[in-house]
Amino acid sequence: MFTKAIVRKPAETFANGITTANLGKPDYNLTLKQHEAYCKALIKCGLELIVLDADPNFPDSCFVEDTAVVTKNFGIIARPGDQRRLGEEVEIKKVLKPLLKLHYIKEPGKLDGGDIMQADEKFYIGLSNRTNLSGSKQLKEVLSAYNYDVFSVPVCNLLHFKTGVNYLGENNLLVHTEFCSKDDFMSYNRIIVDNDEEYAANSLRINDYVLTPKGFPKTKASIEKLGYQIIELEMSEFQKMDGGLSCLSLRF
Ligand code: GLY
Repeated sequence: MFTKAIVRKPAETFANGITTANLGKPDYNLTLKQHEAYCKALIKCGLELIVLDADPNFPDSCFVEDTAVVTKNFGIIARPGDQRRLGEEVEIKKVLKPLLKLHYIKEPGKLDGGDIMQADEKFYIGLSNRTNLSGSKQLKEVLSAYNYDVFSVPVCNLLHFKTGVNYLGENNLLVHTEFCSKDDFMSYNRIIVDNDEEYAANSLRINDYVLTPKGFPKTKASIEKLGYQIIELEMSEFQKMDGGLSCLSLRF
Protein backbone atom coordinates (compact mmCIF):
# COMPACT_ATOMS: atom_id res chain seq x y z
CA MET A 1 0.00 0.00 0.00
CA PHE A 2 1.16 3.51 -0.75
CA THR A 3 0.53 6.07 2.00
CA LYS A 4 2.20 9.25 0.75
CA ALA A 5 2.86 11.15 -2.44
CA ILE A 6 4.91 14.17 -3.41
CA VAL A 7 3.37 16.47 -6.01
CA ARG A 8 4.50 19.86 -7.24
CA LYS A 9 2.24 22.62 -8.53
CA PRO A 10 2.69 23.49 -12.21
CA ALA A 11 4.66 26.70 -12.66
CA GLU A 12 3.45 29.73 -14.64
CA THR A 13 6.27 28.89 -17.06
CA PHE A 14 4.83 25.41 -17.69
CA ALA A 15 4.29 26.11 -21.40
CA ASN A 16 8.06 26.72 -21.81
CA GLY A 17 8.88 23.15 -20.85
CA ILE A 18 10.23 20.39 -23.08
CA THR A 19 7.82 18.81 -25.53
CA THR A 20 7.66 16.87 -28.76
CA ALA A 21 3.88 16.49 -28.71
CA ASN A 22 2.80 19.06 -31.29
CA LEU A 23 -0.55 19.48 -29.56
CA GLY A 24 -0.34 23.22 -29.01
CA LYS A 25 0.42 25.32 -25.92
CA PRO A 26 -1.13 24.30 -22.62
CA ASP A 27 -3.64 26.64 -20.99
CA TYR A 28 -2.26 27.50 -17.56
CA ASN A 29 -5.59 27.79 -15.73
CA LEU A 30 -6.76 24.49 -17.16
CA THR A 31 -3.42 22.93 -16.22
CA LEU A 32 -3.96 24.03 -12.61
CA LYS A 33 -7.51 22.61 -12.62
CA GLN A 34 -6.35 19.28 -14.00
CA HIS A 35 -3.56 19.19 -11.41
CA GLU A 36 -6.07 19.85 -8.61
CA ALA A 37 -8.25 16.99 -9.87
CA TYR A 38 -5.19 14.75 -9.93
CA CYS A 39 -4.36 15.66 -6.32
CA LYS A 40 -7.96 14.93 -5.27
CA ALA A 41 -7.73 11.54 -6.96
CA LEU A 42 -4.56 10.69 -5.02
CA ILE A 43 -6.34 11.61 -1.79
CA LYS A 44 -9.26 9.36 -2.79
CA CYS A 45 -6.69 6.57 -3.22
CA GLY A 46 -5.75 7.06 0.43
CA LEU A 47 -2.56 9.09 0.05
CA GLU A 48 -1.35 11.90 2.24
CA LEU A 49 0.03 14.59 -0.08
CA ILE A 50 3.20 16.60 0.25
CA VAL A 51 2.49 19.54 -2.07
CA LEU A 52 5.52 21.54 -3.20
CA ASP A 53 5.35 25.10 -4.44
CA ALA A 54 5.74 25.74 -8.14
CA ASP A 55 9.23 26.63 -9.35
CA PRO A 56 9.13 28.92 -12.40
CA ASN A 57 12.84 28.28 -13.02
CA PHE A 58 11.95 24.71 -13.97
CA PRO A 59 8.93 24.62 -16.32
CA ASP A 60 8.82 20.79 -16.20
CA SER A 61 9.12 20.52 -12.44
CA CYS A 62 5.52 19.39 -11.83
CA PHE A 63 6.69 16.09 -13.37
CA VAL A 64 8.27 15.10 -10.04
CA GLU A 65 8.48 11.41 -10.83
CA ASP A 66 11.61 12.02 -12.89
CA THR A 67 13.59 13.35 -9.93
CA ALA A 68 13.76 10.19 -7.80
CA VAL A 69 12.98 6.51 -7.41
CA VAL A 70 11.24 5.77 -4.13
CA THR A 71 10.17 2.76 -2.13
CA LYS A 72 8.77 2.51 1.39
CA ASN A 73 12.25 2.20 2.90
CA PHE A 74 14.66 4.10 0.72
CA GLY A 75 14.96 6.50 -2.17
CA ILE A 76 17.43 7.21 -4.95
CA ILE A 77 17.77 10.83 -6.01
CA ALA A 78 17.96 10.85 -9.80
CA ARG A 79 20.11 12.97 -12.10
CA PRO A 80 17.69 14.17 -14.78
CA GLY A 81 18.88 13.31 -18.26
CA ASP A 82 17.98 16.56 -19.98
CA GLN A 83 20.25 19.44 -19.01
CA ARG A 84 17.21 21.76 -18.77
CA ARG A 85 15.78 19.66 -15.93
CA LEU A 86 19.01 19.15 -13.99
CA GLY A 87 18.48 20.79 -10.57
CA GLU A 88 14.81 19.83 -10.13
CA GLU A 89 16.01 17.02 -7.89
CA VAL A 90 17.49 19.41 -5.29
CA GLU A 91 14.12 20.30 -3.72
CA ILE A 92 12.99 16.67 -3.79
CA LYS A 93 16.13 15.64 -1.94
CA LYS A 94 15.32 18.16 0.82
CA VAL A 95 11.81 16.76 1.19
CA LEU A 96 12.80 13.11 1.14
CA LYS A 97 15.86 13.38 3.40
CA PRO A 98 13.96 13.30 6.70
CA LEU A 99 11.65 10.54 5.42
CA LEU A 100 13.81 7.91 3.74
CA LYS A 101 17.36 6.58 3.59
CA LEU A 102 18.70 8.18 0.42
CA HIS A 103 21.15 7.18 -2.30
CA TYR A 104 22.27 9.33 -5.21
CA ILE A 105 22.92 8.96 -8.93
CA LYS A 106 26.23 10.68 -9.62
CA GLU A 107 27.89 12.09 -12.72
CA PRO A 108 28.37 10.80 -15.44
CA GLY A 109 25.14 8.96 -14.65
CA LYS A 110 21.89 10.29 -16.09
CA LEU A 111 18.59 8.90 -14.95
CA ASP A 112 14.93 9.97 -15.09
CA GLY A 113 12.50 8.30 -12.70
CA GLY A 114 10.06 7.93 -15.61
CA ASP A 115 12.38 5.23 -16.95
CA ILE A 116 12.10 3.08 -13.85
CA MET A 117 9.27 0.62 -13.29
CA GLN A 118 8.78 -1.54 -10.22
CA ALA A 119 6.84 -4.78 -10.55
CA ASP A 120 6.69 -6.37 -7.10
CA GLU A 121 10.25 -7.57 -6.34
CA LYS A 122 11.59 -6.60 -9.76
CA PHE A 123 12.72 -3.31 -11.20
CA TYR A 124 13.01 -2.56 -14.90
CA ILE A 125 15.26 0.26 -16.08
CA GLY A 126 14.53 1.77 -19.47
CA LEU A 127 17.64 2.89 -21.34
CA SER A 128 16.30 5.97 -23.10
CA ASN A 129 17.68 9.32 -24.19
CA ARG A 130 17.27 10.36 -20.55
CA THR A 131 18.81 7.36 -18.77
CA ASN A 132 22.31 6.21 -19.68
CA LEU A 133 24.32 3.10 -18.89
CA SER A 134 26.15 4.74 -15.99
CA GLY A 135 22.87 5.85 -14.37
CA SER A 136 21.40 2.42 -14.90
CA LYS A 137 24.46 0.69 -13.44
CA GLN A 138 24.45 2.91 -10.35
CA LEU A 139 20.75 2.32 -9.76
CA LYS A 140 21.16 -1.42 -10.26
CA GLU A 141 23.89 -1.52 -7.60
CA VAL A 142 21.63 0.16 -5.05
CA LEU A 143 18.55 -1.93 -5.85
CA SER A 144 20.51 -5.19 -5.88
CA ALA A 145 21.83 -4.39 -2.41
CA TYR A 146 18.19 -4.33 -1.28
CA ASN A 147 17.67 -7.74 -2.96
CA TYR A 148 15.57 -6.59 -5.90
CA ASP A 149 16.02 -8.24 -9.29
CA VAL A 150 16.94 -5.59 -11.83
CA PHE A 151 16.63 -5.73 -15.63
CA SER A 152 17.36 -3.16 -18.29
CA VAL A 153 15.30 -2.62 -21.42
CA PRO A 154 16.22 -0.40 -24.39
CA VAL A 155 13.71 2.37 -25.14
CA CYS A 156 13.89 3.54 -28.75
CA ASN A 157 10.78 5.41 -29.82
CA LEU A 158 9.31 6.83 -26.62
CA LEU A 159 10.35 9.57 -24.20
CA HIS A 160 10.43 7.35 -21.13
CA PHE A 161 10.08 3.65 -20.46
CA LYS A 162 6.84 4.21 -18.53
CA THR A 163 5.42 6.17 -21.46
CA GLY A 164 4.89 2.68 -22.87
CA VAL A 165 4.63 0.17 -20.05
CA ASN A 166 3.13 0.17 -16.57
CA TYR A 167 2.65 -2.57 -14.01
CA LEU A 168 -0.85 -2.67 -12.54
CA GLY A 169 -0.20 -5.39 -9.96
CA GLU A 170 -1.46 -9.01 -9.76
CA ASN A 171 0.87 -9.86 -12.68
CA ASN A 172 -1.01 -7.50 -15.03
CA LEU A 173 1.17 -5.40 -17.31
CA LEU A 174 -0.21 -2.61 -19.45
CA VAL A 175 2.00 -2.48 -22.48
CA HIS A 176 2.28 -0.48 -25.68
CA THR A 177 3.24 -2.28 -28.91
CA GLU A 178 6.83 -0.94 -28.61
CA PHE A 179 7.39 -3.39 -25.75
CA CYS A 180 4.78 -6.10 -26.23
CA SER A 181 7.11 -8.61 -27.88
CA LYS A 182 9.90 -8.25 -25.31
CA ASP A 183 10.89 -11.61 -23.82
CA ASP A 184 11.19 -9.90 -20.42
CA PHE A 185 7.45 -9.35 -20.34
CA MET A 186 6.18 -12.72 -21.55
CA SER A 187 5.60 -13.99 -18.02
CA TYR A 188 3.03 -11.23 -17.36
CA ASN A 189 -0.62 -11.03 -18.32
CA ARG A 190 -0.03 -8.40 -21.01
CA ILE A 191 -2.78 -5.90 -21.76
CA ILE A 192 -1.73 -4.55 -25.14
CA VAL A 193 -2.56 -0.88 -25.66
CA ASP A 194 -3.65 -0.10 -29.22
CA ASN A 195 -1.54 2.35 -31.22
CA ASP A 196 -4.39 4.88 -31.31
CA GLU A 197 -4.54 4.83 -27.49
CA GLU A 198 -0.79 4.94 -26.85
CA TYR A 199 -1.07 7.71 -24.25
CA ALA A 200 -3.21 5.46 -22.01
CA ALA A 201 -0.28 3.03 -21.56
CA ASN A 202 0.69 5.46 -18.82
CA SER A 203 -2.12 4.48 -16.46
CA LEU A 204 -1.32 4.27 -12.80
CA ARG A 205 -2.27 1.78 -10.10
CA ILE A 206 -2.57 3.32 -6.64
CA ASN A 207 -3.92 1.11 -3.87
CA ASP A 208 -7.54 0.16 -4.77
CA TYR A 209 -7.73 2.24 -7.95
CA VAL A 210 -6.23 2.59 -11.41
CA LEU A 211 -5.96 6.15 -12.68
CA THR A 212 -6.44 6.40 -16.45
CA PRO A 213 -6.37 9.41 -18.77
CA LYS A 214 -9.80 10.41 -20.09
CA GLY A 215 -10.60 9.63 -23.71
CA PHE A 216 -9.16 6.14 -24.20
CA PRO A 217 -12.19 3.84 -23.98
CA LYS A 218 -10.59 0.60 -25.22
CA THR A 219 -7.80 0.71 -22.64
CA LYS A 220 -10.26 1.69 -19.92
CA ALA A 221 -12.50 -1.25 -20.79
CA SER A 222 -9.55 -3.68 -20.76
CA ILE A 223 -8.47 -2.48 -17.31
CA GLU A 224 -12.05 -2.62 -15.98
CA LYS A 225 -12.40 -6.17 -17.26
CA LEU A 226 -9.58 -7.15 -14.90
CA GLY A 227 -11.73 -5.99 -11.98
CA TYR A 228 -10.02 -2.70 -11.16
CA GLN A 229 -11.90 0.44 -10.11
CA ILE A 230 -10.99 3.29 -12.42
CA ILE A 231 -10.57 7.00 -11.81
CA GLU A 232 -10.52 8.78 -15.16
CA LEU A 233 -8.68 12.10 -15.30
CA GLU A 234 -8.54 14.80 -17.93
CA MET A 235 -4.86 15.11 -18.85
CA SER A 236 -4.97 17.18 -22.05
CA GLU A 237 -2.69 19.97 -20.81
CA PHE A 238 -0.04 17.61 -19.46
CA GLN A 239 -0.15 15.52 -22.64
CA LYS A 240 0.74 18.68 -24.56
CA MET A 241 3.99 18.77 -22.57
CA ASP A 242 4.81 15.03 -22.90
CA GLY A 243 3.69 14.26 -19.35
CA GLY A 244 1.49 11.45 -18.12
CA LEU A 245 -0.27 10.33 -14.95
CA SER A 246 2.72 8.65 -13.36
CA CYS A 247 4.97 11.68 -14.03
CA LEU A 248 2.93 13.93 -11.73
CA SER A 249 3.76 12.24 -8.42
CA LEU A 250 6.23 10.22 -6.41
CA ARG A 251 4.36 7.58 -4.46
CA PHE A 252 5.66 5.61 -1.48
N1 GLY B 1 8.18 17.58 -20.57
C1 GLY B 1 8.61 16.48 -19.85
C2 GLY B 1 9.97 16.07 -20.19
O1 GLY B 1 10.38 16.25 -21.32
O2 GLY B 1 10.70 15.56 -19.37
